[in-house]
Amino acid sequence: MSKIIEDLNWRYAVDQFDPSKKVSEENLNTILEAFRLVPSSYGLQPLKLLVIENPSLLSELLSVSYNQRQVVDCSHLLVICAYDEITEPIIEDLILLTSTAQDKSPESMERYSAFLKRTILAMKPDDMKQWNARQAYIALGHILHTCAQLRIDSTPMEGFQKDAYDELLGLTGHNLHSVVACPIGYRSDQDTQQHLPKVRKPLNELVDFYR
Ligand SMILES: Cc1cc2nc3c(=O)[nH]c(=O)nc-3n(C[C@H](O)[C@H](O)[C@H](O)COP(=O)(O)O)c2cc1C
Repeated sequence: MSKIIEDLNWRYAVDQFDPSKKVSEENLNTILEAFRLVPSSYGLQPLKLLVIENPSLLSELLSVSYNQRQVVDCSHLLVICAYDEITEPIIEDLILLTSTAQDKSPESMERYSAFLKRTILAMKPDDMKQWNARQAYIALGHILHTCAQLRIDSTPMEGFQKDAYDELLGLTGHNLHSVVACPIGYRSDQDTQQHLPKVRKPLNELVDFYR
């Protein structure tokens, strides 16, 4: 079996973390760099990753996470957030970042910049918010796979009250909203979920070929 498939079979959505086990700084940095390398539409990266370790904040978050204990028993609670909207200065920042990284003059990117502004700023606010949130799920996928490769456990989690998270994390009014959480750490020996076979549809129901 390929290493990729082995890693993806190793991971599962952890129900019970071992609170005594912590993710090392080195591994955490690898996960953060994987997040930085996530692709996004037009490369806009309309995202922010929150890394939460503060115990009193975690217990407040637990109360708005339907008491899912992973939030407090994990090593680090990651919360992937997306921008509410993309504004003109955000597009200009991307142009500047690109011109610096790829040694292009901002003037040579003027037409591209105008195209981005024309296309993106015309979006309806709700469509833009949803579009940004979709980028967060690409980040989630990267993080889940990176963790599996590092043999770090994780739980993708949408089961929390988004508005309450936004308030507790100080996102409201700052052009950010929480999209999906991902506690990371190490599975408890007591977590019976780890012994259950994966539940997945057969490939022929999921894939159609056009040859
Ligand atoms: C976007 C998303 C949200 C999820 N939210 C929760 C959640 O709030 N709580 C939970 O225990 N599991 C949650 N899960 C885990 C799924 O139930 C789990 O990934 C699925 O059943 C497949 O099992 P596996 O990940 O163990 O292979 C979520 C998964 C995804 C991808």
